[in-house]
Amino acid sequence: MPRPYVITISSEKGGVGKTTLATNLAVYLKALCEDLPVTLLSFDNHFTVDRMFRLSADQTESHVGHLFSEENILTLIRQGEYGVQIIPSCHNLNSFKPQAPNDEQLAEVLSKVNHDGIIIIDTCPILDPYTRNALYAADRVIVPIKDAPSLANCQHLADFFTDHGISRSPLRLLPCLIDSRIRYSGPFRNSYQLLKAYAINRGYRCLEGFIAKSPKVESLATNPEGKVYSVLTHGRSTEVHLQFSHIARQIYLEYLEKGPHRMSEVSEEQRSRTQKLANREQERHQRLLDHCLCCGQQLDQSLLQKAFYAETSGRELCGFIEENCFYQMIFSDLYGEQKLGLSTATRELFRESAQRSYFLMQRQENSKIMLVRLDENGETLSQRTSDIKSRGLLRRSTPFLHNLLEHSFAENDQKNLLLLRQNTGVNGRILTEAPYARFQTVFSRARLDYEPSEDIADSTLNNPVFP
Ligand SMILES: Nc1ncnc2c1ncn2[C@@H]1O[C@H](COP(=O)(O)OP(=O)(O)OP(=O)(O)O)[C@@H](O)[C@H]1O
Ligand SMILES: [Mg+2]
Repeated sequence: MPRPYVITISSEKGGVGKTTLATNLAVYLKALCEDLPVTLLSFDNHFTVDRMFRLSADQTESHVGHLFSEENILTLIRQGEYGVQIIPSCHNLNSFKPQAPNDEQLAEVLSKVNHDGIIIIDTCPILDPYTRNALYAADRVIVPIKDAPSLANCQHLADFFTDHGISRSPLRLLPCLIDSRIRYSGPFRNSYQLLKAYAINRGYRCLEGFIAKSPKVESLATNPEGKVYSVLTHGRSTEVHLQFSHIARQIYLEYLEKGPHRMSEVSEEQRSRTQKLANREQERHQRLLDHCLCCGQQLDQSLLQKAFYAETSGRELCGFIEENCFYQMIFSDLYGEQKLGLSTATRELFRESAQRSYFLMQRQENSKIMLVRLDENGETLSQRTSDIKSRGLLRRSTPFLHNLLEHSFAENDQKNLLLLRQNTGVNGRILTEAPYARFQTVFSRARLDYEPSEDIADSTLNNPVFP
């Protein structure tokens, strides 16, 4: 499947020439190879890309923000001037998409798209989630540096790669806006040589050459037509024209030589992540007992749909309790339904709220059982301790609970906790990654709140801290 080669232009310093480089690089690459698809997009809100390349007013509402939704991104691409394709910019990405994408999202979208050629991404001067996405997806990151502060800022970009455990080899620095009138005595004769020496000294790699500061180039963005003109068409007399040609040729040769390797890496990462998740889910399934923990009946798929999943704090026990058995155990064994005479409405209310709750059970001294109802965050909603001995802990009088206790807690084991949750997670499968992770989060919280520590348990054996 053809994959795109992604070039991200990034620097945390504003006004270093990112947009000028991104837009002109697109034009020069296209001029170098007419058949090469070149697509340009910007996560900045200056609309330079649109002003420079848009052929006609676009009636559709599509823009770069839609790259993060499930849409087929090929529908976002518009044909623009100079043969360059663009994806329209967005006025305010943060208000369009209040929930910031995670750093891998764009790479995952691009790795699945059937699109070849080069994609150039212009970014804004902050390491916001959109810049981070553009960095994560990049085969090549070009960082314009114009002075010592912009060079110092490169450290954050390098850290980004280290933090994500990926190689920082895509990074290349490029001295930009170099004023050739400035001369130094000594080994480094101008600011280009000085910046390059500083960069190499700090362990960065640079593209060959630099981009000079030119009044002509600066003027290309300001004219009565409100257009932004390219250096190739309107600044051929400048040295910047030669410099952009040189940079574009380097990039094109690299593209031919290495190809779009980042997207293949991302696909491979995704494949192994999916495999890891599947293995973890399989391990959870292997730990399961195959029968209902309360009545011993084999559980088929239809019963599992609404069964309650139960796990002890040490994972000695993992299994399901049939829905009816669970309610019988609560109403009859623990609440003593006959004695209390629970109304149908109370039971219905309980059933309804049980779908959104977790239940924690703990065996306490003198055959007391504590039942705590927790919300989705593990916050205690209600708590009740039942004295089973007073009802006689007999198979006959509390059969469901009796069976469960036999499975889960050793006699007098006050440390172990049992957490239960109805199997209504994503797709009704609590053992899949996200619902199971939530289950574990709630369990950790419950342990902090209810698991007695060694010292407390020993010293308060006859005086429970958690009545
Ligand atoms: N080679 C050049 N010679 C002279 N002026 C230039 C050159 N390159 C860019 N400029 C001018 O410098 C200013 C900043 O350039 P540009 O917008 O490309 O920087 P940027 O890094 O994208 O800025 P921002 O961080 O604000 O997005 C613009 O006015 C642009 O016209
Ligand atoms: Mg810019």
